[in-house]
Amino acid sequence: MTDRTAPVAHPINALMQARWSPRAFTGQAVTAAQEASLLEAARWAASCFNEQPWVFVTARKDEEGFAGLLSLLSANNQAWAGAAGLLMIGFARTTFAANGNPNAMAQYDLGQAVAQMALQAVELGLASHQMRGFDVERARTELGVPEGHEPMVAIAFGTQGAPSLLPEKLAEREVAPRVRKPVTEFAHLGRYGVPVKV
Ligand SMILES: Cc1cc2nc3c(=O)[nH]c(=O)nc-3n(C[C@H](O)[C@H](O)[C@H](O)COP(=O)(O)O)c2cc1C
Repeated sequence: MTDRTAPVAHPINALMQARWSPRAFTGQAVTAAQEASLLEAARWAASCFNEQPWVFVTARKDEEGFAGLLSLLSANNQAWAGAAGLLMIGFARTTFAANGNPNAMAQYDLGQAVAQMALQAVELGLASHQMRGFDVERARTELGVPEGHEPMVAIAFGTQGAPSLLPEKLAEREVAPRVRKPVTEFAHLGRYGVPVKV
């Protein structure tokens, strides 16, 4: 299995360090219990006013909806995501349930819920890969999700496989060095432009 543990500059949580987004999946099933844990992790994410504005349409490989979710993905993503064991499309409900006012934090909160699932996946021995490459309009109309929900992200979960399962170009990306901006490029001390002291 490809080890793409993050080469961190400062210590971080081991799950965060181990999480990355492979495209090589073995085709092995994700179990109902694993899916339940992933969704439970999403459930306990923080959200503005505890609105929990996330909605997920999900299907495991052995369930009827899997082919339908797969068909929503871009051709590039379909090329590898069919070997995942579980697919989801994440939606953000963009108004507050109580009063119908716009919830400017809905997409932000969905992102937190997905981030928690990505870490829970590592804990379960699974990998995850988030995707914007899907047909947003078809997701809006074909999955039965009520109006007022914005399709934001597709997510593949599964057992990570060897890069050799992929076409050459994708296999190369699977083993490329992991790169991030330094902290000093995005964190500022008191005012933008003053580098933090780390
Ligand atoms: C919102 C979002 C959308 C993404 N869309 C795609 C996508 O459509 N296809 C893809 O192969 N990867 C996609 N990615 C994966 C990113 O390219 C990947 O997370 C990034 O390169 C960092 O790599 P890492 O997750 O392995 O640390 C997406 C990631 C996020 C968070």
